[in-house]
Formats: sequence, structure tokens, C-alpha cells
Amino acid sequence: MASLTVRKLDEALKASLRLRAAKAGRSVEDEVRMILREAAEPQAVKPPSGPARNQPHRTRASFPIDLPRVTLIIGGGIAAYKALDLIRRLKERGIHVRCVMTRAAQQFVTPLTAGALADERCYTDLFDAQSEFDAGHIRLARDTDLIIVAPATADLMAKMAQGQADDLATAILLATNRPVLVAPAMNPLMWANVATKRNVAQLVRDGVSFIGPNSGEMAEANEAGVGRMSEPTEIAIAAEAMLRPPHTGPLAGKKILITAGPTHEPIDPVRYIANRSSGKQGYAIAASAAEAGADVTLISGPVDLDDPVGVRVIRVESARDMLAQVDAALPVDIAIFAAAVADWRVANAGEQKIKKTASGMPPLQLVENPDILATISKHQQNRPQLVIGFAAETQNLIENATSKLKRKGCDWIVANDVSPASGVMGGDRNTVHILTRDKADIAVDSWPVMTKEEVADALVAKIASTIGQQNS
Ligand SMILES: Cc1cc2nc3c(=O)[nH]c(=O)nc-3n(C[C@H](O)[C@H](O)[C@H](O)COP(=O)(O)O)c2cc1C
Repeated sequence: MASLTVRKLDEALKASLRLRAAKAGRSVEDEVRMILREAAEPQAVKPPSGPARNQPHRTRASFPIDLPRVTLIIGGGIAAYKALDLIRRLKERGIHVRCVMTRAAQQFVTPLTAGALADERCYTDLFDAQSEFDAGHIRLARDTDLIIVAPATADLMAKMAQGQADDLATAILLATNRPVLVAPAMNPLMWANVATKRNVAQLVRDGVSFIGPNSGEMAEANEAGVGRMSEPTEIAIAAEAMLRPPHTGPLAGKKILITAGPTHEPIDPVRYIANRSSGKQGYAIAASAAEAGADVTLISGPVDLDDPVGVRVIRVESARDMLAQVDAALPVDIAIFAAAVADWRVANAGEQKIKKTASGMPPLQLVENPDILATISKHQQNRPQLVIGFAAETQNLIENATSKLKRKGCDWIVANDVSPASGVMGGDRNTVHILTRDKADIAVDSWPVMTKEEVADALVAKIASTIGQQNS
């Protein structure tokens, strides 16, 4: 196939192409491609505009103008090969993909392969006269609906967190005003490093969305843990959710804060007090609320679950960390406290590992942890419109949940029996009772045994109808 260099066209033609491209909000290169496609396929039918969601497997000839556009920035990690599959997974969902590679990424995969899969040249250099003419780094930053960074290396995230812009990828990331989805991939020790944690926390504060990393086998022999890049299909689904037009679903426009999982309260640097919460119920609620169109922040204790699609996830360890992140996430419309927060922590946690001594057991003093549910229910400035707590009880379920509802000052309590015989803790099913308060009256709605996803969907539907009634 012949290649065409826009730079060599005569000036008048270039000027008119630039004008056409600017009017359509496209790069000159895209505009030329568009003209050629239209000329080659005069009968191509323009599909209705809107989300790519229900339009998979479209052929290239029927792709005209309003495809959702993703810029995929490929970082220099071993998972770069998975980014090639991601290009295909995005394209089969009807998403236009444009690739950018860092210098390190080119050690793992070639721009030629990425460009061939994306059907458009892969951009690599900031100081490349050709690409500055065709698109320019500012255009690359804006001429897209979403930027995905996959794999996001520790180094690339550090640069993003600091606002560096010394290559094409980081210049685009700094110059963009589009949403950014980051899929980290690195060795578990790099992921656990405090510097990486600090950078991730900064990026979350800056509004960057994350997917993964997952836990599992690493490419390096005998290495496993958290740090594996999310699978291309998971990233493509998350991207699709972010590209979906806003303001759809019964909770569109609502900000929801959810806590999930246990907390870990340190005894010393290697030991902690924990509980058996798996986080499954809170994660299911977060996924369901995001599906219902809400803007969801999930503050999670340590769990072995992947991030729900389209949800901002902030991972914490202790009750005090959780309260600090909850506070930072306010104001929200709805808060759901599903985490099993430890009631106590060790007051005199050891700075070094506590050693066995002949003098007997170490004297561990427990102090009460902050009560997150009560604190937010009684918040003076930023109390959410609807505050929902969870009561996990092993006996006198309704009685204890009723007293918790009155004591904490929340609006609803989701009560569940977590005695070992119920199999709820760590299991996939749940039997819940919803206690709601109307002034002094408390109503109890007992639901049949359901999967945790079904409980989540039913709870989200109840929230949507209540909020709808309150606001009408
Ligand atoms: C074989 C090999 C594999 C690597 N894999 C990773 C990785 O998976 N994640 C990561 O953060 N860094 C990894 N690195 C280190 C990065 O390549 C290095 O930090 C680089 O500067 C990142 O460049 P970037 O900012 O363009 O992504 C690897 C290095 C080598 C030599």
C-alpha cells in the first residue's frame, strides 16, 4: 500500500485540510484517513452516535466519525505485550485506538506492531516534526475521549504524580483534560514500595482512575503477589464504562462513598488484629452503584478482590486510615459503610517485632478506634443525604441492629447474621434485613437469601427509589 505524507502536499490543500480537520475536531492525519475511507466506501452507513457498548464487532468500513476514541499509552514494562491484545479488545468494542509508546516500551514491543493493530501510526517522539505537524502533542492530549496507560510502570506513575513532561507520553498526560485510566503492572515489591503508594495516592487525589493491579503469578520466575496488570478484557470493560455517556442510570449525578473489607490494626510491624470480612458485599454494592450511573468511591480495607469496573478504589489498612480517607472523600450524596472496622486497636503497638521473653506474654493494651459510621452520621457540615450502616451480628440480630441504628444516628442499617453457621463471612450469599428510620419509627424489611450481587442490586434499587422520592 502506498503511504501518504501530508507535509508534501501543496500549501493551499494543507490549509484546507487543516480547516476541515479543525471543524471536525480531528487531526489532519485522521481527516485524510476519513476522506479516503469515505471515498473508498461511498455506501458506508453512518451508525447512530452514542456509546460503543451495544455496537461490538463493527467492520472498519462502517466506522465513521463518532467512534469513541482512546489514546493508549504503553509504558516500559514486561506486560507491554498485553497492551497489544488490549488494542484488539478495544477495537472489537468499536473504540478507535491511537497508540503512544515510551522509549522503554519499545524495548518490549514495537511501534510497528501497535500501529498495525491500531490501524494508525504509533506515536513515540515528542520532538518528531512529522507527528507535531500531523497531530502535535497537545492535539494528541485532547483529540481523544479517554487516555489509558497500560502497562503503567512505577516510573511512569512517578512521573505523572510529579507532573513531569519530558517525553511524548508524559507531555500528553500533563496536557490532557480528558479522563485517565491507569493499569499498573510491576513486581509486587515495587507495588508495595512506599514511594509507589505515595504516587498512587497522589494520582487518585488528582482524579486519575485505576484498574488493578491484580494478584497472581508474575512474568519473572517464582514471583507472585499483587502487581499483575489487569487482563486486557477487564481494562476494555472499564474503558467502555468510562466512555459511556454520563447521566444515564437511576443514580446518575450522585456521588456515593462505600467502605468495604476488614481493617488491620498493627500489633507490631509484622502482626495485626483483623477479622474475617472478605469485602465481597461492599465490592458488589460499589459495582452495582457504578452500573446505576453513580460516581463511586470505594474505600477498601485489605482484601483479595479486583477493583470493580468504573469505581475509584482507595486501599487502606487501619480504621484510622479509613476514617481519614472517608473524611477526604466528602461531600457525597450517599455513604454506605459496609466495612467491618475493628472496634479496637493496640495502644502500644511495637515499633519492632515483639520478641518472646521468659517474663511471659506481652501486655497488649487495647483502645477504642474512631467510630466511622457515627462520625459521618453526626457530621456537622458534610452529612450525606443518606447514611447506611451495616450490622454484622452473631446473636439477637434485629434487636442489636435496632439499637445500633438509634445509637449511631444513621438512616438505615443493613443487618446480617454472621455467625459461623450462616456462612456469610467470606461466602457468596447473604440474608439481610433492612432497618429504616422515619423519625421515631423503625421499619424492618427482611429479604430472602440472595447472592451478594443480588443483595447489592436490590439495595441500590431501594436507594435509587428513596433518593428519587426525597428529591421529587
Ligand atoms: C525486563 C524488564 C522488565 C521490567 N518490567 C517492569 C514492570 O513490569 N513494571 C515496572 O514498573 N518496571 C519494569 N521495568 C523497569 C522499567 O522498564 C523502567 O523503570 C523504565 O524506566 C520504565 O519506563 P517508562 O516510564 O517508559 O514506563 C522492567 C525492566 C526490565 C529490564
